[in-house]
Amino acid sequence: MTERTLVLIKPDGVARRHVGEILSRIERKGLDIVALELRTATEEVAAAHYAEHEGKPFYPGLIEFITARPLVAAVLEGPRAIAAFRQLAGGTDPVEKAVPGSIRGDLGLDAGENLVHGSDSVESAEREIALWFPALAGS
Ligand code: PPS
Repeated sequence: MTERTLVLIKPDGVARRHVGEILSRIERKGLDIVALELRTATEEVAAAHYAEHEGKPFYPGLIEFITARPLVAAVLEGPRAIAAFRQLAGGTDPVEKAVPGSIRGDLGLDAGENLVHGSDSVESAEREIALWFPALAGS
């Protein structure tokens, strides 16, 4: 079952020069990169992307973090791409949840500055791809 998923290499991943490492893991897994762009997220896009977390204690810091510096936005495609990338990423907390061998388990320490984001469902992927890459939506 071919799927698409929206991936962000968050500003900490870019600043720490892990873009090549993370894209290499994606390619080694066998997922296709069908869109890729370095950009700085606007407040509007960040707020829409993380709308489900509005009101949580970490939300203001999360929006500030994600908009402050450039990130890499990408769309990946492949069989079970959503679950496949989340397996590569590891759990949200790089220490408590992400296992060694995953991106967060190998490279991260912080639950906020945790290197990558991947869509968590088909519905989220469709919404997030339409938000970050409107030209791809529905294609
Ligand atoms: S929750 O609260 O259970 O819904 O959290 P989760 O879905 O695992 O991820 C929430 C996203 O917010 C980012 N973030 C934090 N999460 C937890 N604690 C703190 N302090 C925090 N700060 C930021 C976290 O990295 C998740 O981002 P994404 O991009 O979705 O992985």
